[in-house]
Order: sequence, then C-alpha cells, then structure tokens
Amino acid sequence: MKGASAARNLIYKVLGTPINPRRDFLKTTFKCLLLLSLLTIPISLLLNKHTALFSSILSRYQMYKRSADGPAKFQKALPRNDPLRLSMIYPGNYHFILDDTELCRSIHPYLVLIVPVAPGNWIARDAIRRTWGNETLIQGELIQTVFLLGVPKNSSNIKVLQRKVRTENRLYHDLIQSDFIDSYHNLTIKTMVMMDWLASRCPKVPYAMKIDSDMFLNVENLVSMLKTPGTPTTIYMTGRLKYESPVVREKNSQWYVSEDSYRENKFPTHLVGMGYVFSLDMPRRLMEISKRVTPFYVEDAYIGVCMKTLGIDFTPPPERFHFRLYMYEFDYCHLAKSICAILQTPDQLINYWTSLKGPGPAC
Ligand SMILES: *[C@@H]1O[C@H](CO)[C@@H](O)[C@H](O)[C@H]1NC(C)=O
Ligand SMILES: *[C@@H]1O[C@H](CO)[C@@H](O)[C@H](O)[C@H]1NC(C)=O
Ligand SMILES: *[C@@H]1O[C@H](CO)[C@@H](O)[C@H](O)[C@H]1NC(C)=O
Repeated sequence: MKGASAARNLIYKVLGTPINPRRDFLKTTFKCLLLLSLLTIPISLLLNKHTALFSSILSRYQMYKRSADGPAKFQKALPRNDPLRLSMIYPGNYHFILDDTELCRSIHPYLVLIVPVAPGNWIARDAIRRTWGNETLIQGELIQTVFLLGVPKNSSNIKVLQRKVRTENRLYHDLIQSDFIDSYHNLTIKTMVMMDWLASRCPKVPYAMKIDSDMFLNVENLVSMLKTPGTPTTIYMTGRLKYESPVVREKNSQWYVSEDSYRENKFPTHLVGMGYVFSLDMPRRLMEISKRVTPFYVEDAYIGVCMKTLGIDFTPPPERFHFRLYMYEFDYCHLAKSICAILQTPDQLINYWTSLKGPGPAC
C-alpha cells in the first residue's frame, strides 16, 4: 500500500490532477492477480528446472534493474570501426542546455560529487540534497555535489518535465543537462559527457566521484581515504572492483553485447558503476582513448576497456567493504565504516542518514 500511494503521489506530481486512485488501484490489483495466476505454472516449472540459472539472472537483474529500457540500438546499427559509430559517444556531439552552476567557476572544491540521474527523478535529487549532497565542508575541505541529466524521451509530458527541471535548477543551480536522450542504453554517452564536463570545467580540482542517485555515501570516510598519505594524486581510479566477468551473448538478454561491439569473452577487471572515485587527470585521458575504443552500452565495463587500452590499472580501495553493493537493512557499524552502498529508495536514504547521525553502538 505504501508503494501504491507513493506511485500515486508521483502521478499527482507529474500530471497535477488526481485521477480516481481507488478505482485505479482496484483495477491494477485485479490485473496483477490475473497475470500472476497465469504465470504460476511456467514459473514454477522454470524454478524447479533451472534454479541456479534463475538466481543468477535475478542477481544480474538486481544489479542493473535500476534503470532499464528497450533494446540497444547503436551497437548493432553500424560496423565496428565505423567513424559514425565511434563518434556516437563523442561528447562534442552533444550540447549543454543547462549549465549555470558556479562549480569550478567561482567555487573550487577539493572533491566534486557528480550524480548521473534521470530528468524525472527529482525525488532522489531532493533526498541527496538533504543528506550527503549537503555535506560541503569535511576536514577543512570543500565538497560540491552536482547532478547530470540528459533530456527525457519524447512523450506527452516532456514539456511539463522540462519546465520542472528548469524550475528546480533556478532554485538550486546544481543541474547540468546535456541534449542526448537519457536512457539506460545511453549510459555510456552519459558517462563520457560527464568526463567531458569535468575535463573542460574542473581540471584543477584534485578528485571527483561519479555516484549513482540511489546510493548512500559517507562523505567523511571518502575524504579520509583521499587524504590518507600515499593515496595517488594522479592516474588514480578506485571503487568496487569487479574481476573479469563474462560478456552476455544471448541476443534477447538485456545485457547482450554483440561480438561486433566487444570481441573478448570476458570484460577486463573494472569498477562497478554505482560509484567510483578518480583524480581529475583521468577524464581527459579517458576521453582521448575513447576515440579508439568501440563503444558498447555497459558503461562501467566500457571504462574498464578504456583503462586496459590506456594500460592503467585501477587502484584497489583500502578495504573491500568500503564500496558495498546492496544494503537491505540498516546496519549502523557497516555504514559508519564504509564509503558507499546501494539503497532501494530515497526514503531509505533519509532514514539511514538520520539514524547514522544519531547515537549508535560502539563499532
Ligand atoms: C543543509 O545544511 C544546512 C546547515 O547544516 C541547513 O541549514 C540546510 O537546511 C540543509 N539543506 C537541506 C536542503 O537540507
Ligand atoms: C514529440 O511528441 C509530440 C506528441 O506527443 C509530437 O507532436 C512531436 O512532433 C514529437 N517531437 C519529436 C521531436 O519527435
Ligand atoms: C541515445 O541518444 C541519442 C542522442 O540523443 C539518440 O539519438 C538515441 O536514440 C539514444 N538511444 C537510446 C537507446 O535511447
């Protein structure tokens, strides 16, 4: 019921006018029950036969479900080294339509937190502004958070959405928006646009972190890690390492990557895309090399291939637990010691944040 009312509130926010929520709720419930009863038999058969397969699909699904949509288009359309295809991810092809933040103009921080987020996800942005995005001074260092958006796909409410985005930016001046279409399969474009913005705007800033909008972040621990003597100040990129992982070749899978886009059977070691930290010389290096690396839309693996081509190794974090994957239940000591973790909802972020600021056990 909580989810249904949240969804309803979202619809109110987008459309502005209440639709009949009770009738809609009953209709949806009925449809779901019908669908569920139809699916029970095939699902139970599948579960019995392929439990292992099913759970591996499920865990992959959870890794990526955060923003999926239809099949990738650009990876099949053009031959491997076609200049047009390579240029798909050139940030120079896209233009910033919102970019009035003072960040790196009059404000020169020690660390930039840059958050790729869907244009319509203002709920996540608000939660971040109320929590880790509002931590601007840590151990005497200035930290600044900005959000990176593409444009929403054309739909009936695109104008309303775009107006909301502009209004939000007038209030906070923390949105950067480029004119590529914001979709799951365009995440590699989004990452390269981010690298372009950082390289051209903030070359003198020591460090940046790319962090997804559904993350918990312990800024204090992040700054401590960066300030630890011995932490590299250049050629530095760290996060949650994912060692060589197989490339999905099943054509109808959501993570399918054609041999044409990427030939090897395994991705090189790379950082999980949820959140990674780097020195500000890296964006320029990655942009240069990307002109020679055929793009595919698994953005974190793509950065891995670029790093391999550059001949640069990722730096392992001081502790593996610093970059956590999922955290389903509040755990004071884990959050107190780690740098980031994937959460499920913006409400959860606010709750965890408040709880962590309160009294807790000795860890
Ligand atoms: C950020 O923190 C300041 C001071 O700690 C507080 O006054 C302000 O309301 C906070 N902003 C948000 C959006 O919560
Ligand atoms: C976007 O959609 C509207 C109708 O929803 C249509 O009139 C308009 O031509 C479309 N624009 C583009 C660029 O496809
Ligand atoms: C990715 O963005 C480009 C540029 O806006 C657009 O032409 C293309 O349709 C988008 N692809 C997907 C899969 O959304």
